[in-house]
Amino acid sequence: MKDTLNKLSTPTIALHWLVGLAIIFMMPVAIYMAENEVYWLYPIHKSIGVVLFVFIIVRVVWRLKNGWLQPVSEYQKWEQLLAKIVHWVLIIGTVLFPLSGMIMSGAGGHGIYLFGLELMAMNPDPANPQAVIALNKTAAGIGHEAHEITAWVMFVAIILHVAGALKHHIMDKDQTLNRMKGNDVST
Ligand code: HEM
Ligand code: HEM
Repeated sequence: MKDTLNKLSTPTIALHWLVGLAIIFMMPVAIYMAENEVYWLYPIHKSIGVVLFVFIIVRVVWRLKNGWLQPVSEYQKWEQLLAKIVHWVLIIGTVLFPLSGMIMSGAGGHGIYLFGLELMAMNPDPANPQAVIALNKTAAGIGHEAHEITAWVMFVAIILHVAGALKHHIMDKDQTLNRMKGNDVST
C-alpha cells in the first residue's frame, strides 16, 4: 500500500478528502460561530476539531513516512516549487488548527470535551459559576492568536491549492486531479 506515480494509495486519498473537505466546511461555519458568538456551536466545533486532530496526525505520519507525491508530469520549476510550498503550508496548517484550538480552550480554563467526554476539565470561577478562570492567560492568548492567523494563512493556501488543481484539470488537461480522485492514470 504505497503511492506510485500512476496510482495513489487508499490512505492518501481517503485522508486527503476527509481532512481537506472537513476543513473547507469547518472554516466558514467557525468564522460565523466566532463572529456572532453562537455559543451552542462551540462544543460541536471543538469536538469535531479534536476528532479531526487524530486523522490529521495519522495523515502527517503517513505523508512523512511515504514521502511527497511525484508530479504526474514535468512542470515549470516555479510551479513545482509553489505546489511544494503550498502543500507544506496546508499540512502544517492542518496540525496548527486543532493544536492552537486546544491550547486556547485548555489554557483558557474552558476545558476540552469530546462530545461530552471530558478530556481536560474546565476551571470554573467560584465567585461566578457562569465564568471560568484561565490557567495560563498568555498561553491562551497565543493559542487564540495562532488559531486566527492559521485561519488567514489557510484561506489563502486553500484558494491557491484549489486554483492549482483546477488549472491542471481544465487548462493543462492532465491527470493530477484524476489521480487524487483515486483513478489509475497509467493509460
Ligand atoms: C476541493 C478542494 C481540493 C481539491 C480539488 C484538491 C486537489 C488536490 C490534488 C489534485 C492534489 C494532488 C497534487 C499532486 O499530485 O501534486 C492534492 C494534494 C494535496 N492536497 Fe488537496 N485538494 C483540495 C483541498 C485540500 C485542502 C482543504 C487541503 C488541506 C487542508 C489539502 C491538502 C493537500 C495536501 C497536503 C496535498 C499533498 C498530498 C498529500 O499530502 O495528500 N487539499 N490536492
Ligand atoms: C481542524 C480543526 C479546526 C479548524 C479548521 C478550526 C477553525 C476555526 C476557525 C476558522 C475559527 C474562526 C476564526 C478564529 O476565531 O480563529 C475558529 C474559532 C474557534 N475555534 Fe477552531 N478550528 C479547529 C479546531 C478547534 C479545536 C480542536 C478547538 C478547541 C478544542 C477549537 C476552538 C475554537 C474556538 C474556541 C474558537 C472561537 C474563538 C473566538 O470566539 O474568537 N478549534 N476555529
